[in-house]
Amino acid sequence: MDFTEINTRGLVLLGCGKMGSALLEGWLKGGIDAGAVYVLDPNPSDWVKAQGVHINEDLPDDPAIALLAVKPQMMGDALPSMAALGNGTTLFLSIAAGTSIARFEEALGGQTPIVRSMPNTPAAVGRGITAIIGNTHATAADLDLAEGLLKAVGQVVRLETEAQIDAVTGVSGSGPAYVFHLIETMAAAGEAQGLAPELAMQLAKATVAGAGALAEAAEESPAQLRVNVTSPNGTTAAALNVLMDEEKGFPKLLGDAVKAATERGRELGK
Ligand SMILES: NC(=O)c1ccc[n+]([C@@H]2O[C@H](COP(=O)([O-])OP(=O)(O)OC[C@H]3O[C@@H](n4cnc5c(N)ncnc54)[C@H](OP(=O)(O)O)[C@@H]3O)[C@@H](O)[C@H]2O)c1
Repeated sequence: MDFTEINTRGLVLLGCGKMGSALLEGWLKGGIDAGAVYVLDPNPSDWVKAQGVHINEDLPDDPAIALLAVKPQMMGDALPSMAALGNGTTLFLSIAAGTSIARFEEALGGQTPIVRSMPNTPAAVGRGITAIIGNTHATAADLDLAEGLLKAVGQVVRLETEAQIDAVTGVSGSGPAYVFHLIETMAAAGEAQGLAPELAMQLAKATVAGAGALAEAAEESPAQLRVNVTSPNGTTAAALNVLMDEEKGFPKLLGDAVKAATERGRELGK
């Protein structure tokens, strides 16, 4: 990606916590000049302070992009500091869960180009996936710019409607936590079957990471990969009988979990 425009006009980062820092790290590695970055954060971390970016200084008049990366509950307090950049040619890119495009337009002005996105925490290791959707003032070039920036930390997909973002939150935004819990419970189950705690945890982590990598790399679908390792009446089949139970297994559990997250996202957006 060509970052000339950003290096010339500047990039503002409002809130530089976990997600903001993960993105910033990817951008600095990818070719954005530290001198072009303006961070606003009341408590910048030692890592941020060591990057050579501007911290809590006056902002440029017309930065190419302003990334909104504060918690949704802080957004109301934080947005007024950005209002002067609204209704112009600065593209606003939000990664906040549950803050609607309409709320940004209210705070920043109805002519503001805005892209709303939903990333996830594997961004911290360059393996995230982010979904994006623009408002009516976001041009094709704006969406390309947002996509190029977010690709610094993983894959990017585009949505057709803003409403889809709640389901994305339910699957990939909140999803890493489901997988972390899968690792925890697999390790605990291994312990219950007699393995030492550290060994059980190592087996569970490597299994989830390895299966994930295989699912991404393989040409077969995950369903086919599952069939490939399941011999009739074997050990895997014994476990899958439990996990694939329509009433008590993954189909019901994950269906309910993703639905709960999606509905919570919808509520937060109101
Ligand atoms: N983490 C995830 O898995 C994930 C996934 C998808 C989307 N997101 C979204 O990403 C956003 C950031 O999440 P996060 O996990 O990075 O949160 P975080 O680590 O708490 O980072 C937010 C940062 O913003 C700072 N801040 C608070 N008020 C501010 C203000 N008025 N002006 C400027 N900075 C301010 C916070 O400082 P203090 O610590 O001093 O309050 C903190 O450093 C959220 O909106 C969240 O919905 C997160």
